[in-house]
Order: sequence, then C-alpha cells, then structure tokens
Amino acid sequence: MRLFLDSANIAEIRAANELGVISGVTTNPSLIAKEGRNFQQVVEEITSIVDGPISAEVIGMQAEAMVAEAQELVKIHPNIVIKIPMCAEGLKATAQLSRQGIATNVTLIFSANQGLLAALAGATYVSPFVGRLDDVGQEGMDMVRELVEILAIHDLDTEVIAASIRHPVHVTAAARAGASIATVPYKVLQQMIGHPLTEAGIEKFLQDWETVKNK
Ligand code: E4P
Repeated sequence: MRLFLDSANIAEIRAANELGVISGVTTNPSLIAKEGRNFQQVVEEITSIVDGPISAEVIGMQAEAMVAEAQELVKIHPNIVIKIPMCAEGLKATAQLSRQGIATNVTLIFSANQGLLAALAGATYVSPFVGRLDDVGQEGMDMVRELVEILAIHDLDTEVIAASIRHPVHVTAAARAGASIATVPYKVLQQMIGHPLTEAGIEKFLQDWETVKNK
C-alpha cells in the first residue's frame, strides 16, 4: 500500500513530502483552479518536490486532443502520469498512450466495469472515486473491493488508486480492500497522524520527565 497526496498546493506537497510517507501526487483541474496558477508551472514545481508518479489531467474531450496534450505534458518530467477521464474517447486515448509507453491514470471511475475497461485499454492506474459514490448513497469501497478482485483474478497489472478519500476510515478501508494506493487530501493525512491518546501520552511523559530531569 502506498499513499499519494491529492493536492496541487505546493506548501501542502512540501509538508507532506517531508513526512516521508507519500510516494506520488494526483492533481485534477479543480485542484489546479483552486491554486489560481499556471497549470504547467504548478506541475513542474510538483515534479521538483516529489520523486514519484505525478498525475496531470488532460482537458480535451476527443482522443486525438487528449493524446496531443499528453505528449506535451510528458515533456515536463518523466514522472508525469496522464490523467484521462473515463469515457469512450478516454479509453481510445489510453490505448494509444499505452502503446506509446506513456503512463496513464483513468479517473472518474464509478463502477468496477469502468475500471475493468480502463485496465483492458492499458491504463497504468485507475482511480475509483469513493467519497463521491458514498455521497449518492452507494458504498464506494465496495467498488474498490470488486475492482481489486477482478484485476487480480484476471492478472491485469493496472494499479488501483482509491480516490475521493474524505476521512481516515476511507484509507484504512482502501488498504484492507487491497487498493495499491490511496490518494489523500492533506487534511486527511494530518488526521491520520493524530490521536488524542497519543497527544495525551506525550504530554504525560513530558510532565513526568520534568519531575526527575534534575535528579
Ligand atoms: C483523484 O485523483 C481526484 O483528484 C480526487 O480524489 C477527487 O476527490 P474529490 O471527490 O474529493 O474531489
């Protein structure tokens, strides 16, 4: 199990990277828009911080446009992974990029069948969106579990990135479901670190130490 950071915020990415627990970053157009900065510059900066797969999403809606964008994006850094929305044109683009040896992450996966199609098209990663499925009353983690099982049974080497992670329980569940990776917002990463009993324990150790430190 690996963790990626789901963010385009440079301060967050630096802070998370220093923890030594993240091995990649995922971005999307909404996360980039939140930063209000030039897309290529942000992606380039991220590649200079984290030495691992960095997902950057294409905007074109036709396979040809997606492939052209992808070919420009991979010039930024060899770690760039092309994020492609799940749709017929996205599958075509994924298949073409896979033949060219360009890594892809098929995103906006909301069913195991969509994930299977992306894997058959040659996707390097698939990103099932857990939280957004939970939001509409379906158990998002069931999809992750099914997808992991299907890919394993049929020996497909596409990796599952549990995405749209909203809280630490999602991360534990994704790990138990066999997802290769969970991509987590910075806030969730911080929530995973803390525990009230750990904080109370540290405080007590320090207090007790005060009583003997000069003896
Ligand atoms: C994944 O790659 C996406 O960027 C992300 O996880 C979407 O999460 P959201 O549903 O919280 O926007």
